[in-house]
Amino acid sequence: MSTMSQPIVDLRPYFTPLAELEGLLDWKMVFGNDHPVELDLGCGRGKFLLDSSLNRPETNWFGVELDYTEGRRAAKRLAKRELPNARVIGGDAKQFLTNQVASHSVAAAHVYFPDPWWKRKHTKRRLFTDEFADMLARVVKHDGFVHSWTDVGDYFEVISSLMNHHAEFISETPPPEPAGADDMDFLTNFHRRGRKMGCNIYRGLWRRK
Ligand SMILES: C[S@@+](CC[C@H](N)C(=O)[O-])C[C@H]1O[C@@H](n2cnc3c(N)ncnc32)[C@H](O)[C@@H]1O
Repeated sequence: MSTMSQPIVDLRPYFTPLAELEGLLDWKMVFGNDHPVELDLGCGRGKFLLDSSLNRPETNWFGVELDYTEGRRAAKRLAKRELPNARVIGGDAKQFLTNQVASHSVAAAHVYFPDPWWKRKHTKRRLFTDEFADMLARVVKHDGFVHSWTDVGDYFEVISSLMNHHAEFISETPPPEPAGADDMDFLTNFHRRGRKMGCNIYRGLWRRK
């Protein structure tokens, strides 16, 4: 067996490091059409991104993932199918929203199973904060949506409280949870993991006013 490491495959345009982007993205330039854009923030290895881009080809999908290994794994799955309507950015979702996303330019943002950072001294590392809710309010279009699911009850309380009390959002009934009829019948990888561990799944949906 060779001890040489594998060369890193260039996955562009499916995977792009955030550091390579400058200024606001023009979605029409990225995708070559003006279909609605939805973001998957913290997309992990990309089950939701892949399923969504296959099942809803009339929408453009953009994943953002801090962990390059996971983000590249997601991008490889998109590249393998040569999907024209999905891309992954490697980097921090908050930086991405702040520097690359124009105001009211996305139809929906999805935040599934964000890292819980259990230890009290680490909770400030959580993605979903009041600052993040404000970022979502800026980038999501009027009548657009924010979806967030988690299997962590106390984190869901925080997310719900931030969103339910946010002046720009209205709580709505979330779509039904996939039944888990087979190994693929889950929304995301962490949804599958949570269900297999017997956790409750908390689901939230908010509409931008
Ligand atoms: C628990 S995993 C969930 C992954 C996927 N959404 C799912 O449901 O299977 C949380 C993911 O969010 C990513 N993440 C954490 N903080 C982030 C940030 N600031 N920006 C982008 N991704 C982030 C982590 O690297 C991790 O892959």
